[in-house]
Amino acid sequence: MTDHPLLAVEDLVVEYPTPRGPFRAVDQVSFRIERGTSLAVVGESGSGKSTIARALVRLLEPASGRILLDGTDIAHLPERRLRPLRRRIQMVFQDPYGSLDPHLTALQTVAEPLRLAGMGDRAERLRRAAELLDRVGLPNSALERRPAEFSGGQRQRIGIARALASGPDLLVCDEATSALDVSVQAQVLNLLRELQKETGVAYLIIAHNLGVVREISDHVLVMRLGGLVETGPTESVLATPAEPYTRALRRAALDPAAVRGRKPRALLTAALEGTRP
Ligand SMILES: Nc1ncnc2c1ncn2[C@@H]1O[C@H](COP(=O)(O)OP(=O)(O)OP(=O)(O)O)[C@@H](O)[C@H]1O
Ligand SMILES: [Mg+2]
Repeated sequence: MTDHPLLAVEDLVVEYPTPRGPFRAVDQVSFRIERGTSLAVVGESGSGKSTIARALVRLLEPASGRILLDGTDIAHLPERRLRPLRRRIQMVFQDPYGSLDPHLTALQTVAEPLRLAGMGDRAERLRRAAELLDRVGLPNSALERRPAEFSGGQRQRIGIARALASGPDLLVCDEATSALDVSVQAQVLNLLRELQKETGVAYLIIAHNLGVVREISDHVLVMRLGGLVETGPTESVLATPAEPYTRALRRAALDPAAVRGRKPRALLTAALEGTRP
């Protein structure tokens, strides 16, 4: 054991190149995630949530700042040194349709990261993949099917099994449930919670729906325009938000239309402007 938090992000700055020069999508953001806990990241469209996620799994290299995984700064590590650490932070993507390889069976999809990580022999990898798929509730008869033959919720479960295959310490879920209908969304959230209890995996969960945030997270981080607006324990931030922006976000989310998943962004904009959508 060490004294380091699982993840400590310090003064993270992420920029995208544009024809008009670098665009700063994340500006000086700092936060921590302890082992086995969940941090939700909320904020309106374009506030920099996915950019943070992409930097954490190093799909992007930050312009500056530190990303300390168990005390090791991975923000600028070259690929060669990053490779052995990559399995420790895994990502579940938003789109359950586009994020799976259409040619691979469910079993192959989950076994693939094990192969890439050089874990076990082929038979062991397939056995482990079958266990994981069983764990996320996919029937045995479905192991040899390909993505086109699954529902959105089933695909999301395969994506979760794939992300868990390498035994990560942190799972980054970028709106992993927002493409699903409400009852399937609830099932996937239950699954994530159970898996956390069993394995001690930590989550960073990007969500629009504050109901989801309340269900799944211990801490919440509110983003606006690339900057951190407010952060703290989920219950206190949602019960007594200190910032007007967080209050507006909560008002929008309490609207029953938003709870049913209709147009949360339009509702948020309306709440921010003090009008009805
Ligand atoms: N590849 C890119 N090139 C230039 N700008 C980008 C790129 N990707 C994102 N941006 C800009 O960076 C900002 C943050 O984008 P990001 O995708 O992180 O937002 P988000 O909070 O995830 O939004 P959403 O809720 O819509 O998914 C936005 O202003 C966006 O236009
Ligand atoms: Mg996004």
